[in-house]
Amino acid sequence: MKGSTLPFDGTPEQEQALRLKLRELKTKEGALMPAMQFAQGLYGYLPYEVQSIIADELGVTLSEVYGVATFYSQFSLYPKGKYRIGICLGTACYVNGSQAIYDRLRQILGIDSGECTEDRLFSLDATRCVGCCGMAPVMTVNDDVYGRIKPDDVEKILDKYRRA
Ligand code: FES
Repeated sequence: MKGSTLPFDGTPEQEQALRLKLRELKTKEGALMPAMQFAQGLYGYLPYEVQSIIADELGVTLSEVYGVATFYSQFSLYPKGKYRIGICLGTACYVNGSQAIYDRLRQILGIDSGECTEDRLFSLDATRCVGCCGMAPVMTVNDDVYGRIKPDDVEKILDKYRRA
């Protein structure tokens, strides 16, 4: 079972809110999806501990919860970083070299798409077209957009956020 190995930092208040919601949803048909959407909104992602609570309260298996969590892209098994990096692998960016930038990001950060660094500073997502094709290849950090970048620019861009 893959997922975040970062320590779970959910609070008792969050767990209480989740369990309350799950008990309310349990009486309804098709409770699993709304339950998982609620949990993802509450925690920002669905770590093993949260999946276990959902399975426990709804009376479904953990593998059922895990199966849904990994099937739908709206769910994440990893937390997002303080700085959410997006690298566009849409056609215009791809033909202009975004794969090499993506590879450099993975190498520097030591994570793959969908994952988060241990210090929770950066998370990385390979994305589809973000609508700035004229600036291809495009990388985003939260709301900041960087266009026409080269692999050698990556370290400098990351440094700006490390020092922020
Ligand atoms: S393909 Fe990357 S912004 Fe459109």
